[in-house]
Amino acid sequence: MVNERSWNAGQLSFDEIGYWTEIKLDIVKDYAKEYSTILAKKPFQYAYIDGFAGSGVHLSRDTQEFVLGSPLNALKIKPPFHEYFLVDLDGDKVEQLRSFPEIKDRPEVHVIHGNCNQVLLEEVFPKVKFEDYRRALCVLDPYGLQLNWEVIEVAGRMKSIEIFLNFPIMDMNRNALWRKPELASQEGRVRMTAFWGNESWLNAAYQQQTTLFGDDEAIKLGNKQVVDAFSDRLKKVAGFKYVPEPIPMRNSMNAVIYYLFFASQQPVASTIVDYIFKKYQNRGA
Ligand SMILES: C[S@@+](CC[C@H](N)C(=O)[O-])C[C@H]1O[C@@H](n2cnc3c(N)ncnc32)[C@H](O)[C@@H]1O
Repeated sequence: MVNERSWNAGQLSFDEIGYWTEIKLDIVKDYAKEYSTILAKKPFQYAYIDGFAGSGVHLSRDTQEFVLGSPLNALKIKPPFHEYFLVDLDGDKVEQLRSFPEIKDRPEVHVIHGNCNQVLLEEVFPKVKFEDYRRALCVLDPYGLQLNWEVIEVAGRMKSIEIFLNFPIMDMNRNALWRKPELASQEGRVRMTAFWGNESWLNAAYQQQTTLFGDDEAIKLGNKQVVDAFSDRLKKVAGFKYVPEPIPMRNSMNAVIYYLFFASQQPVASTIVDYIFKKYQNRGA
């Protein structure tokens, strides 16, 4: 995890989170509330999906108080979603999540222990098909490069799913987007390719230049070019119609840890998220 720590204190499993994570939680919560209010007036069954759900609570590094995680925030929203699918790979976190009173004994809340790259494609997305009058808001919030592009692409092609996506630029820069990418570890480059969907990240992040001596050399481009190229992929390859400018999440050193993307088929969704992003833009570090 980038700049954050995980704890297993006695019975409780939680991450200590920075200010930027609290902002992300507020953004997702604000939008989920708008989403549910709008969808409740339409003839759809709609679900909340959290692919990287976590344990349900975090500890704020600033205030040392517990902060609710994204699934518990979603469960508090009124009007409620018709169904909730909460997935996590970590067995302890899943067990803790299942134990919250907001989740226990609620048949519409499904806590699933597994790898979301499989679980979403095989078990969850088939339950929210456009042609079945189903819709879903899906939060994809990995620590780093743990997500496979296929999940994003299928969500886009289904037309029934809107996503929030944590685009982990710091993990990318640490593990794959080196000044000389061939020197980065094989594992880092493989994870980058899995997240991006193919090796076109090399074209997005580097520009070929000829040196004074006539050799070809790859010059690393900035975060902005990488983010713009990914935004293009969300539209052109995954088929999301609306992808507002993502919001950079900065740590106390003002370094961008990740970009929070939103992607949807609905202009109104994009307008609402744009507004929410602007509201939080200056609450950075
Ligand atoms: C950043 S935390 C999620 C925090 C949560 N979204 C929130 O805001 O409260 C990332 C979570 O992803 C889980 N995880 C990592 N790889 C995963 C995978 N392939 N599938 C599902 N969960 C995964 C970790 O166990 C961790 O709980």
